[in-house]
Amino acid sequence: MGLKVTVVGVGLVGEAIVACLKERRFPCEWPPRVVATRERPETLAGEKMLVEETCADSFEGASLALFAGQEGAKGASVTWRKAAEEAGAWCIDNGRDFRLAADVPLVVPEVNAADITPRTRFIASPNCSTIQMVVALAPLHRAARITRIHVATYQATSGWGMRGPQELRAQVPVGLESCENIPFDPKVFARPIAFNCIPHIDAFVEGDYTREEMKMVYETRKILGDGAMRISATTVRVPVLNGHSEAVWVETRKKLSAQEARDLLRKAPGVAVIDEPQGEGQPRTYPTALDLLRPEYKDLTLVGRIREDISCENGLAMWIVADNIRKGAALNVVQIAEELLRRGLLEA
Ligand SMILES: NC(=O)c1ccc[n+]([C@@H]2O[C@H](COP(=O)([O-])OP(=O)(O)OC[C@H]3O[C@@H](n4cnc5c(N)ncnc54)[C@H](OP(=O)(O)O)[C@@H]3O)[C@@H](O)[C@H]2O)c1
Repeated sequence: MGLKVTVVGVGLVGEAIVACLKERRFPCEWPPRVVATRERPETLAGEKMLVEETCADSFEGASLALFAGQEGAKGASVTWRKAAEEAGAWCIDNGRDFRLAADVPLVVPEVNAADITPRTRFIASPNCSTIQMVVALAPLHRAARITRIHVATYQATSGWGMRGPQELRAQVPVGLESCENIPFDPKVFARPIAFNCIPHIDAFVEGDYTREEMKMVYETRKILGDGAMRISATTVRVPVLNGHSEAVWVETRKKLSAQEARDLLRKAPGVAVIDEPQGEGQPRTYPTALDLLRPEYKDLTLVGRIREDISCENGLAMWIVADNIRKGAALNVVQIAEELLRRGLLEA
């Protein structure tokens, strides 16, 4: 016996949630209830499971509802939040719909677990590119007050969901022959993604920034608790299957040397610093998205290329890499649920 958990959505994130619950031995009834838009059998985290069609009864008796469905008006959490809450479940949502609501904590456990209170039964998990950035920046912010952030992202195709890597895999063989007319589905990526980089993720919104870019602005301010922090992002889709990378420049009120930043990050929860200088016969080290395939790194935020920014007085530049499906979504949600258990807000 254990907690009753309902996972809504069994795409890339939903499947990874099931895998994280299993790997981390989350004390829930096994298998968890898995629901999506239609009923069918599926193999999730290596096990055959029956996916049910989501309905109000999907949350009956559940202590925890983990949302990993599509966003927007017809999306999973907008449609089913009320039913889950009425059933008495704590809800944790991966989508953007409620992230900025004043009564919804937006949580990355390593950074702002204290924002969870017993009164807030609905918790949002931030956008994947925001999560990895705040895991790395929060320790620097605490030590030296970040006043300004510039970020350029290099985001994997899996950030779109199941269809993203499918587009890349289909386009690569065509592009190897000729890149002139690679067929592509503009509903997924606005241009061919094979052999290309696309500076356009989600819709164009205010000031010619995209929604993905503005998510990084508003969500980072909310998580770090500084509504005035100056932040500018350019988010780019790159032909990578999984794992987001970010080039980040910060300015701080107090000067931090590159070595002080490295020392702070070496002690930070959820972070691995990969930033060794070139030695005799040893190449310089830095993280890349493929390093996330190594078991010791798959759940961490990897930071390297830490250096003092030569263009301003109190500036640092760095390179931040994490698995957008795991730490950027599924793992973060399961870590929030573990925090609820630790605090006795959820009882197994
Ligand atoms: N991919 C990432 O890197 C990432 C990172 C952070 C956050 N997120 C967020 O996580 C969520 C899931 O993303 P994903 O990448 O896993 O997407 P995905 O691969 O496209 O999967 C979406 C899943 O949601 C289900 N679904 C859609 N609408 C639903 C509804 N109204 N009720 C119940 N189920 C519904 C789909 O059901 P069917 O299988 O039946 O079609 C599918 O299983 C999204 O909100 C996304 O923004 C994703």
